[in-house]
Amino acid sequence: MTLTYKIVVFPGDGVGREVVPETVKVLKAARDTVTGFDFDFVEFPCGGKYYLESGKEWPDEAWEACKSSDAVLFGAIGYPGAVKPNGVLAGIDILLGLRFDLDLYANLRPAKLFDGVESRILDKGPKDVDFMVVRENTEGLYVPIRGMLSRGGVDELAVDVRVITRKGTERIVRYAFELCMRRNGAPGDGKKRVTCVDKSNVLDGCRFFRKIYDEIAEGYGKVQRDYVYVDAMTQWMIRAPEHYDVVVTSNFQGDILSDLSSVLIGGMGMAPSANVGERYGLFEPVHGSAPDIAGQRKANPIGSILSGKMMLEWLALKHGDKACERTAAKIEEAVSSVLSEENIRTPDLCYGKYSGVTPSTTSEVGDAIVEKIEKS
Ligand code: IPM
Ligand code: MG
Repeated sequence: MTLTYKIVVFPGDGVGREVVPETVKVLKAARDTVTGFDFDFVEFPCGGKYYLESGKEWPDEAWEACKSSDAVLFGAIGYPGAVKPNGVLAGIDILLGLRFDLDLYANLRPAKLFDGVESRILDKGPKDVDFMVVRENTEGLYVPIRGMLSRGGVDELAVDVRVITRKGTERIVRYAFELCMRRNGAPGDGKKRVTCVDKSNVLDGCRFFRKIYDEIAEGYGKVQRDYVYVDAMTQWMIRAPEHYDVVVTSNFQGDILSDLSSVLIGGMGMAPSANVGERYGLFEPVHGSAPDIAGQRKANPIGSILSGKMMLEWLALKHGDKACERTAAKIEEAVSSVLSEENIRTPDLCYGKYSGVTPSTTSEVGDAIVEKIEKS
């Protein structure tokens, strides 16, 4: 029996429009090497540029398509000058809206350094960096409980409410422990470890988060507990990445830590992510629309391609689909093999040891990955 997965595709703005087509190309090539499943890709425009052209952030049918999808592939949001009357960047509410409305409570952001990529951090190599930031994705500072107070035409006060709930924390912490059980442990000592990152020395929400972390941890005797305040984490993550296996944290802290972790793996162009819940999944590179390099064929497609790989892993787990699992592994091997040959890479990776390499274009990197997949 062939399972056909309906994949809704939103390239969005800027470099999203360059890296998402490479991802679709790689996914199709990988699918063609196995039997058992197929894709039905349905693409929609969205974002700032679309807003300037149409007055809307996305077409009306797009939401229904997402609701009947098996997964969503997302590019990036943000176009210069595209701002809504309320001051919000056009398209941001699409992304945040999907995270909330599809209840994508877990935002998974792996920091894994590949052979053939130099870490920006001295003396850290592929043997040291392989952890996963599990970012809570449907509460914290991102709840839409916020506002401005204006009196007599003067903006006087702005409030953003940070919400930490029992349900939200239990499910994200449980997700982190379950994920840890499927992984191989921290690179430094091989121990399975879930690190709780919070600011519980000051914030009640964080004390609550940590309390629930402890309750859930009771059920996972094989996993080592670990605690660190978020401010301290910004230096430990860089000084000793080998200590970390799974890192669980609230929404805004996870947003910041995941960008920081990208310096360990060669930069934002290398960072993939998965936003998942019980029913839906949305997969996107961590980088944004990068207007400064958009349209110049310079964007690194690997963050997006690896997000596509995460989509396959998630579909595999959800549907017990072995063909999907093998396909995901093929994509990761192909990426790894292209990088370890050291001659094909976009300009963002041509530094240090690789500063003499002639930079490849976005689609040359995509083509090289496809070629490896076809040979596998
Ligand atoms: C991210 C981004 C988003 C976030 C923005 C674009 C709303 O920074 O995915 O990390 O803050 O979550
Ligand atoms: Mg971010």
